[in-house]
Amino acid sequence: MLIEEDKSLKAHNTFGIECNAKYYVSVTSVSELKEVLANVSHKKHFILGGGSNMLLTQDIDALVIHINIKGIEVLSETKNTVQLRVMAGENWHEFVLNCIQNNYGGLENLSLIPGNVGTAPIQNIGAYGVELKDTFISCNAIDKEALVEREFSKRECDFGYRSSMFKREAKGHYIITSVVFELTKKDHIKSTSYGAIQEQLAKKSLLDPSIKDISEAVIAIRQSKLPDPKELGNSGSFFKNPVIDKEAFQEFKIKNPRAPFYEVSPTAFKIPAGWLIEQAGFKGKQYGDAGVHKNQALVLVNYGNATGNEISELAIRIQKKVKEQFGIYIEPEVNII
Ligand code: EPU
Repeated sequence: MLIEEDKSLKAHNTFGIECNAKYYVSVTSVSELKEVLANVSHKKHFILGGGSNMLLTQDIDALVIHINIKGIEVLSETKNTVQLRVMAGENWHEFVLNCIQNNYGGLENLSLIPGNVGTAPIQNIGAYGVELKDTFISCNAIDKEALVEREFSKRECDFGYRSSMFKREAKGHYIITSVVFELTKKDHIKSTSYGAIQEQLAKKSLLDPSIKDISEAVIAIRQSKLPDPKELGNSGSFFKNPVIDKEAFQEFKIKNPRAPFYEVSPTAFKIPAGWLIEQAGFKGKQYGDAGVHKNQALVLVNYGNATGNEISELAIRIQKKVKEQFGIYIEPEVNII
């Protein structure tokens, strides 16, 4: 294993922020990961997956451990389903495409989400009516203190909207090394009720779409709204969609009768942060090299050489204005380092 010094992380975060790691190592197996952890104090390391959900605002004065463990293995199969173990360093979208090629259904709506398989459960990635938890069986993770690997069931992960126990109570304690999914081999359960998917399928007159058709529809929608991190640095949705209680919602609805919303439960209502940010006047705005994307106000972008702090200052400015205008606090989805 090669330990590099003063390594630029620009190519390792999808925002494309220029920051350095004091030390950097890329591990390609669970045993290599254990070996590195055994030799470094836990306060002095930083775990890096696909770098797609973080905003770097400072150099990292620690050993950055890049989880680069690859492999996809069939664990078991029945006539209708297959269970796959996927190692944490696999690229998420390449894994989804691999499933589509094998006609394994369940992940097609999650096409083109940036990041790696090992980080996907942390925030229970989701899009177009499907979340990771819908096909998740279990994951293996290393306890950073005890240096032992253990299995976590779906129940233990306690998934919620863009959240899991790995993001809450167990934050920083474990490193996910592999994830087990159960996918369908036939009679796929297709989730096409989301408006944009229906429009896309109708454009192609697809009445009975295959999982490949759905994946292609999702790719087309995402490409039309969301910037490609390879062309324009970004981290997907920067904020979570806020959930407000019934009383606050009723007041909000009177003042904003045309606002889109989603009823999570009879007492909880989700308001699209993208709508709030657009109404607050930020959509398409640019401040230096930091900006708000022109097609999706939920996405902050780096036009070239923005620093993490410039993006973070823009985020704070947006939060303040949204709070002032609507009385609603929007919480970042991205981890600010
Ligand atoms: N909207 C606006 N202006 C905007 C953006 C959105 O008015 O600039 C309105 C839309 O018109 C629509 C509503 O907000 O009525 C919802 O927009 P959209 O369907 O695009 O979804 P979203 O709430 O903005 C969420 C996820 C996305 C995911 C999409 C599709 C979160 C934080 N984001 O976005 O996830 O792809 O739904 O399911 O939940 C990500 O996490 O990186 C991500 C892109």
